[in-house]
Amino acid sequence: MFDKASTIIRDMDKLSFDYVPERLVHREGQMSRLEMYFRPLAESGRSSYAFLTGSVGTGKTATAKRFCENTARYLSRSGRPIDVMFVNCRNRNTETGVILELLRHFDKGFPERGFSPDEMMRAFAAHIESGGVPAIIVLDEVDVLLKKSNVDLVYQLTRFSDGVRGKAGISLILISQHSIYGMLDEASMSTFGRGNAITFDKYARDELYSIAKARAEESLFGGKYSDDAIELIADVDSEFGDARLAIELLRDSAVIAEGHPQGSIDTEDVREAKANINSVVTESKLTGLDTNRKLALLAIARAMKSNLYISITVAEKTYAVVCEEYGHEPRKHTQFWTYVQDMDRQNLLETVVRSEKEGGRSTYISLPDIPSKVLAKKLEVLLEGRTAASAEEF
Ligand SMILES: Nc1ncnc2c1ncn2[C@@H]1O[C@H](COP(=O)(O)OP(=O)(O)OP(=O)(O)O)[C@@H](O)[C@H]1O
Ligand SMILES: [Mg+2]
Repeated sequence: MFDKASTIIRDMDKLSFDYVPERLVHREGQMSRLEMYFRPLAESGRSSYAFLTGSVGTGKTATAKRFCENTARYLSRSGRPIDVMFVNCRNRNTETGVILELLRHFDKGFPERGFSPDEMMRAFAAHIESGGVPAIIVLDEVDVLLKKSNVDLVYQLTRFSDGVRGKAGISLILISQHSIYGMLDEASMSTFGRGNAITFDKYARDELYSIAKARAEESLFGGKYSDDAIELIADVDSEFGDARLAIELLRDSAVIAEGHPQGSIDTEDVREAKANINSVVTESKLTGLDTNRKLALLAIARAMKSNLYISITVAEKTYAVVCEEYGHEPRKHTQFWTYVQDMDRQNLLETVVRSEKEGGRSTYISLPDIPSKVLAKKLEVLLEGRTAASAEEF
């Protein structure tokens, strides 16, 4: 048990969502904005503020963590320690819960019950003042807390440095997928003025490619993943722009590939990982296809094998073979083309138009959602059940 060494995954920890890489590619802009807003803290220990916003998996949490760690490291080199406190407000979604978590940074055994929020806040302030060390508090997913109209906590934290007369201030980083303007009181609004907001856009396809590639280099053995597999992860994820999904696909593909004799990640593993995570190819969609389209899709699945894309010409050749096997007259090129476009609309496959080296452009087909072998098997089962009755459809 547990004695079989992994042949693909070198370091599983680096594939976990909590791992924060040393370098966050494509987030240099956000990092330098944070640096700009936190200059008061770095230069004179004064409170600084930033609000990070953007949709799921765009690197908000990771960037905040990396920034705090780098800042703490930088300041400690010049003998100026800071405290960093990170609270996820989804886990601690009441004001008391958040203050308790903050207090436990100083006093691990602080009791869950028996103190009012005010008393807890005073105890927390006493720790900050006696320590004399500036703190950065990160309130992640803060909208969950603010929805419960707990604006007072944010207000108290922003006013905190007034009380200690600029000695050891509290700096705040608020993070939320949604805008929090309008959820804050006016005083906090002015602290988190729009000027302090940093937006995180969804990652573009090529950005996802470099994130997945960098993570593969860090966590997997060299030569144990194909570049096509990484390209496919980026393709699959491009619709979402979510780095978490890219990492999840990479990790699941690696685990799937561990089971292979050849022991390296290819595009089929990525398709299987995607199918396991959230397949848009449902049984009912396939069942709903007529025989012509089923035959066309079966041909595409068979021709795909472990390729990332196949050209429509290659698919059509296999289509002729498949039709013969099932005793059907193949339809003309324009009709085949219509089937492909139709199935693209249903998200059963994807098409891209690419320029050829020899000039001209041709259409390529990919199957981002399902391993081609699994798809072919499903279609064969469906077609075999229907071959006798399907003649009239032609
Ligand atoms: N630029 C990047 N380079 C490398 N890894 C990244 C990058 N951006 C995000 N990640 C990784 O992707 C995952 C999701 O990122 P993160 O948790 O920061 O997203 P988020 O914006 O906080 O999402 P949510 O709103 O769902 O909390 C993490 O594992 C993180 O390490
Ligand atoms: Mg997050």
